[in-house]
Amino acid sequence: MTRYDLALIGFGGVNRALAQLIAGRGDELAAELGFALRVVAISDLRAGSLVRADGIDLAPLLAGEPAFAGLPGGSADPRTEQVIRGVPCDIVAEATFTNPADGEPALSHVRWALEAGKHVCTTNKGPVALHGRALRRLAAEHGVSFECEGSVLSGTPVLRTARRLLAGLRISGVEGIMNGTSNYILGRLEDGVDFPEAVKEAQALGYAEADPTADVEGFDVQLKVMILANEVLGAGLRRDDVSVRGIARLTPADMRDAAARGLRWKLVGSAALREDGTVDARVAPVALPVEHPLASVSGPANAVSFHTDLLGAVTVSGPGAGRVETAYALLSDIIAIHQRHAVLEESLHG
Ligand code: HSE
Repeated sequence: MTRYDLALIGFGGVNRALAQLIAGRGDELAAELGFALRVVAISDLRAGSLVRADGIDLAPLLAGEPAFAGLPGGSADPRTEQVIRGVPCDIVAEATFTNPADGEPALSHVRWALEAGKHVCTTNKGPVALHGRALRRLAAEHGVSFECEGSVLSGTPVLRTARRLLAGLRISGVEGIMNGTSNYILGRLEDGVDFPEAVKEAQALGYAEADPTADVEGFDVQLKVMILANEVLGAGLRRDDVSVRGIARLTPADMRDAAARGLRWKLVGSAALREDGTVDARVAPVALPVEHPLASVSGPANAVSFHTDLLGAVTVSGPGAGRVETAYALLSDIIAIHQRHAVLEESLHG
């Protein structure tokens, strides 16, 4: 059976959840999918690095905060570049953090891996939003795949739906609710809870970031709109091309007024092709008619609607965050890599 050796870059919630899936469900997945997964390297800023060419025993690492120093093949030093470039493996699963201004350090991680001829799956928005086209070109030059389903709506299949399931349709626009924190807060404003209290709740429930600015001011959605515009509509947008307004000025009274008029306030990220082929992209609160497909998306749920010529609006709804949900995005990327390369192998050696 085909086996893929993985390097996990970052060993926080997401890659730990992926390790948990591999440790707990590896045999079931191999039987269903036709390939096995083995982790041969992990690099993490806090835990250090761990390299085992014969495969890492994951289960002991999943109880408590791991520290790799002292383990065979382990070091307190993350040795990130050395692990990514130097350790033989097939796929690099990148789940560190990203700076929305330049996409680093995730961007370098992705570049190093592609340059070393390794497939990459990442959950990071920065590299995809800011450099998606260049990274795809780099992957093609090296004959490998660059997959990033988790960069929009975690494991809910948005990018792959557009690329695969909507193939053959003309997609003229995309709009969505792409931030669970702000959607949760809007729901609580509708319940009469005031804004600061609703933010605190979203933080306590683990939806909002420790600093919720990017959630409530729309910057998190801005990156997702860039990704959708660039990956699905073929635009080449930069951050300045996507206007942003968040939800911080909305109040319970605004919610009541909207409800009285059959409307619901939502933070909508959208990108639409104009007649001349350019793309209009924005993030802003919009009072949607209650019958709009996005109006009924409540709580931390997310949804994206594609506007197509033959089907009209096609909407995908599901979780937009969460460690297990995002780990599933990485697994779905690995499945896509397998499917693409299994087909290539077959056509070469067939
Ligand atoms: N904090 C984000 C949200 C998830 O609330 O949807 C990561 O983009």
